[in-house]
Amino acid sequence: MADIYTLNDFDLVDKTVLLRVDINSPINPDTGELLGDTRIRAHIETIKALEDSRLVILAHQSRPGRRDFVSLKVHAERLSTLLGRRVKHVDDLFCSRAQKAIKMMKTGDIILLENVRFYSEEVGVEKFNGTDFTPQANTHIVRNLAPLMDYYVNDAFAASHRAQPSLVGFVERLPSMAGRVMERELKNLSHAIEDAESPSVAVLGGAKADDSIGIAKNMLRNGIVDMVLTTGVVANIFLMAKGVDLGGHNKDFIHSKFKDADKLLSQAKEVLEKWPEKVKLPTDVALNDDGKRKRVSVSELPSELPIHDIGLDTIVEFSDYIERAKTIIANGPAGVFETEEFTLGTEELFRAMARSEGYSVVGGGETSMVCSILEIADQIDHISTGGGACVSFLGGKTMPVKVALERSRKLKEEGAYKK
Ligand code: 3PG
Repeated sequence: MADIYTLNDFDLVDKTVLLRVDINSPINPDTGELLGDTRIRAHIETIKALEDSRLVILAHQSRPGRRDFVSLKVHAERLSTLLGRRVKHVDDLFCSRAQKAIKMMKTGDIILLENVRFYSEEVGVEKFNGTDFTPQANTHIVRNLAPLMDYYVNDAFAASHRAQPSLVGFVERLPSMAGRVMERELKNLSHAIEDAESPSVAVLGGAKADDSIGIAKNMLRNGIVDMVLTTGVVANIFLMAKGVDLGGHNKDFIHSKFKDADKLLSQAKEVLEKWPEKVKLPTDVALNDDGKRKRVSVSELPSELPIHDIGLDTIVEFSDYIERAKTIIANGPAGVFETEEFTLGTEELFRAMARSEGYSVVGGGETSMVCSILEIADQIDHISTGGGACVSFLGGKTMPVKVALERSRKLKEEGAYKK
């Protein structure tokens, strides 16, 4: 990567390296049990690449106020098991206990510090104004930890849409680089949107419909994709914007889920008016009729029953577009994937992606889970570790962590670092 340093650019042997990862994982709040370790596994390659350093790891779990906002002790235990090496959890971030533990480290040691979001600065100093990371660099987190480190590695792609101190503040004080996950994500997602070969399609579904409408607009405006296939709640919003009456329950669902539903509807309308041929809406849907699947054509709506999947005609039509595409970008399930009766749309569209010879990228909240349940992960070219981060990247938003890593390279080349 031309603008960002990677692990290949420095000799990190015998150095003290601060590594920011994103191991934010599903946790049972009642038992504290870790319910999934996909994100922890994703960072193993980077951690192994740093096995001859003194490695200090920073991470967050959940957000203040949530029930799974817990210590990283259980993450350290799982990391130890996966690596077959001790990962010591220190229940402190930058005060004397953490500093003492870091100073006593030997080459090959790994420490995981406490949940960075236990410390109010991490979530309180988050303003991003383009390129200036001074407020983040002046936090206690950065001022206390940076002097103990030689280098900073950011591998937390899944949090790269945030400008929190542990993610962007260290670049002002330490030569910084991308870890393997960050490198792969930036390279593959950029490839999908910058060099998309035609025909290219975006399959937009999932729960974050507000983000998806922005993505549709950005992708069509910048010519990233030739066609947008809409599914799930995203499709329902587009159908409403087109004037289709979905029925009381389905309309209420959209208005209660999205505070700015009216704004979303007018954005969707604008997209439909600008690119009427390029935005494909379902022609039929599956309603939830007392737990059973009931297919109706869109022209038969409204219905009081909730729409929980796309219908069979739409599945066939969209699968055909996907199979013939040379680039496919998907960001979420097509319906209520968790309920067996309504998995069909998601399953068939993802299987079409796996069959397609085109370059396929999936990202967003539940997509990696869908790929592993369907056992198609090895047939998809890139499965992003990011939920919101992937969606922001695809939507063309500026990613603070990317900007910060670019700034670090510039600072290093200007000789701005003391070390
Ligand atoms: C995620 O789970 O998407 C990342 O860890 C970022 O978490 P956040 O949305 O709480 O910042």
